[in-house]
Amino acid sequence: MATTTLPLRTPLPVQTRLAGVVPDVEGHILTPILEDIDRLKQERNAVVLAHNYMTPDIFHGAADLRGDSLELARLAAETPADVIVMAGVHFMAETAKILSPDKTVLIPDPRAGCSLADSITGADIRALRERYPGVPVVTYVNTSAEVKAESDITCTSSNAVRIVESLGVDRVLFLPDRYLGAWVATQTDVEVIGWEGACEVHERFTGEEIAELRASDPELAILAHPECPPDVLAASDIVGSTSQMVGWVRDHQPAKVVLVTECSMADNVAAEAPDTEFVRPCNMCPHMKRITVQNIRTALETMQHPVEVDPAIAERARRAVTAMLEAS
Ligand code: 13P
Ligand code: SF4
Repeated sequence: MATTTLPLRTPLPVQTRLAGVVPDVEGHILTPILEDIDRLKQERNAVVLAHNYMTPDIFHGAADLRGDSLELARLAAETPADVIVMAGVHFMAETAKILSPDKTVLIPDPRAGCSLADSITGADIRALRERYPGVPVVTYVNTSAEVKAESDITCTSSNAVRIVESLGVDRVLFLPDRYLGAWVATQTDVEVIGWEGACEVHERFTGEEIAELRASDPELAILAHPECPPDVLAASDIVGSTSQMVGWVRDHQPAKVVLVTECSMADNVAAEAPDTEFVRPCNMCPHMKRITVQNIRTALETMQHPVEVDPAIAERARRAVTAMLEAS
């Protein structure tokens, strides 16, 4: 196994990383676990990649690299580490494995799934291709490797419009998120043929909820994820991926903001934006919440659970993911 020295090791002591992120009493419990994780990362030449929806102890305490789905895909492809621990859901770990087949990719809890990934199969895409011959298939990364392998190109919530337009065609099959597809259709002249998938977290937000938030304070900045239903997006000020929301808060430093997305996002951003007040409706992703500092430590100790993708499927899926990375 190669022994590359990692340039991105979190340099600060655990206590510093946790300061202002969790209460002191919680910090005392977390410190030995996070110190174990630091040691194991060095021993294994490993990095922890964390999605923006991880809880603050993981996001600020255990992660070396953080981001939205697109950033995690890029980081997975670029890291010189031998081992990637994906603090996220299964499709993210699979994407990392597709892009880095020679690395060991671990998911601390293999049950961390996704309602969007569960909504479509490779056979569904083959049937759609028969029904719409010649129409390119653009697939959200929240899908299995098998589905990616049947696709022309993948996209994420941060680049979906750009990817659809990059193809230079009049219409696309856009799968599997019906709400992201509907939002893309409002942003482009390309005809979007969708699928019936939905994120079980974002589809719970309603237009009435947003109207109530707006009425509660006209100064409130409302940022929504494009996996939300159309009436939610229409009533919001900004629509963007998780990292686009983080960037907007950083750049604009609003007095008061609501992030219409999974709960942990606000906790993570709030730790770095002390002058902004966060309104926090809480829709939690049960899949993301399967990942804990405890099972990250166990993953590094035992090298469980390695993610494997059939090499033939991985090769075809890699073409679709690489096409996205090159176009975005
Ligand atoms: P992004 O972080 O790419 O916006 O995706 C959100 C999401 O739901 C991932 O599961
Ligand atoms: Fe899937 Fe929604 Fe959870 Fe993201 S938040 S992992 S899209 S179920």
